[in-house]
Amino acid sequence: MNTPQTGILLPLPPLARYLTFLIDEAERAAGCLRALAEVADGERTVVGLGHSLLSALGGDISGLRPFPNLAGVGLELPATPAAIWLWLRGDDRGELLQRSRRIAEVLAPAFRLDGTLDAFVYDGGRDLTGYEDGTENPAGDAATAAAIVGAEQPLLAGSSFVAVQRWRHDLGRFEQMPSAERDHCIGRRRCDNEEIDDAPESAHVKRTAQESFTPPAFVLRRSMPWAEGPHGGLMFVAFATSFEPFEAQLRRMVGIEDGIVDALFRFSQPQSGAYFWCPAMRSGRLDLSPLRLR
Ligand code: HEM
Repeated sequence: MNTPQTGILLPLPPLARYLTFLIDEAERAAGCLRALAEVADGERTVVGLGHSLLSALGGDISGLRPFPNLAGVGLELPATPAAIWLWLRGDDRGELLQRSRRIAEVLAPAFRLDGTLDAFVYDGGRDLTGYEDGTENPAGDAATAAAIVGAEQPLLAGSSFVAVQRWRHDLGRFEQMPSAERDHCIGRRRCDNEEIDDAPESAHVKRTAQESFTPPAFVLRRSMPWAEGPHGGLMFVAFATSFEPFEAQLRRMVGIEDGIVDALFRFSQPQSGAYFWCPAMRSGRLDLSPLRLR
């Protein structure tokens, strides 16, 4: 029976490292992917495969598409496709680096390491702005229902679709705002995490309220703060059974529906955007059979 990559559903690890790879030698990709399936356990190493890779392999995963080129009200969102996305979960930075090196070696005949980013849990699960992140995440069976494709799609059962966006914060700008304005950007109070009923329509949680969409737009967010040199922000990561819920939220955030832009953009900008399909596991290995690779 197929099961999800367990790292998707588990609580966030203390530390993580994200890797993205681009294709160098398409004809070697299938062999490297088989080798990756041997070393990625789905728990400490979560794997996502991009549209470019699957089309090079001739595999067609219905629902996987490139990240949209979205232009909102006065802003453009970057689309930065990649062939493979890895979320290395752990608790030791050195071990994460060594694991990255081993995986890069396994993939080297076909893939070039394009980006690495270290991430961490901050203050028990807060974004670097200090606001709790993940409060309205579905939990338990609802998390599985939101994130993992079910038996109604037998070929893809146990797999997931992930949207990944690296946001860079201008924390100086955020800190210059009066605290009431900061709370209104998010739509929750930083001091006690209470939702602010009369927050402006631009408040992030008003833009993205999952139950306010038709149909409801539930995703399982597994975002983590990141830091690199003087910069920091949020690696936004949302797993779902399709990209529809994420895209519905994003379209509303950039003002495509009603001209109102999410207040997050006052202090943070997305620097990347990509979609990946996360295969299920079968007998402890990534199940690549939907790609006709075994
Ligand atoms: C700078 C980037 C972002 C930051 C700092 C951020 C932060 C937060 C915070 C603090 C909350 C409130 C607590 C919670 O329910 O988790 C929240 C809620 C939420 N965010 Fe974000 N977020 C970011 C980007 C995004 C993006 C790009 C999306 C989707 C396109 C998104 C979707 C959501 C959803 C669905 C909720 C829960 C809404 C609800 O149902 O109440 N977020 N976010």
